[in-house]
Amino acid sequence: MLLAVKYAHIVCITLSGLLFVWRGTRLIALGRSPAGWERVLPHIIDTLLLTTALGLVFMLRLNPLEHGWLAAKLVAVIGYIGFGFITLRFARSRSQQITAFSCATVTFAYIVLVAITREPWPPTALL
Ligand code: HEM
Repeated sequence: MLLAVKYAHIVCITLSGLLFVWRGTRLIALGRSPAGWERVLPHIIDTLLLTTALGLVFMLRLNPLEHGWLAAKLVAVIGYIGFGFITLRFARSRSQQITAFSCATVTFAYIVLVAITREPWPPTALL
């Protein structure tokens, strides 16, 4: 069961990242705002992502106050959501969109590295 939820979490992460890059690059390169399925599907995927995340936290009995990497991950997820909103909704110019999009992708990469290394500062584990 744990493994199934973990795989579901990873599938949701992959889809969420790919959908964000798809919507962000179309907006920045072609000026096309997300419409139709591009607006609906990410909400479904992100809800599943958070559900599987909470499932893992409960199944593994992890407390963010005891595990620095999990606390760092939660803060970074809030940042990723914020940068995503700025990219797709609030940015008023192309340069703002590009800046917010870059911040969101770097934050996403940081979250993945934190998850894999279980370190709030992944270079400690990687170097
Ligand atoms: C953009 C959001 C997220 C990304 C990119 C992400 C990424 C990942 C990845 C790649 C793994 C697999 C790690 C491995 O097997 O080595 C993982 C596992 C996990 N994630 Fe996430 N995650 C996200 C959101 C969350 C959130 C919001 C939470 C907590 C509320 C969370 C909690 C967990 C837990 C507990 C595990 C299992 C860790 C383990 O087995 O060692 N994730 N995540």
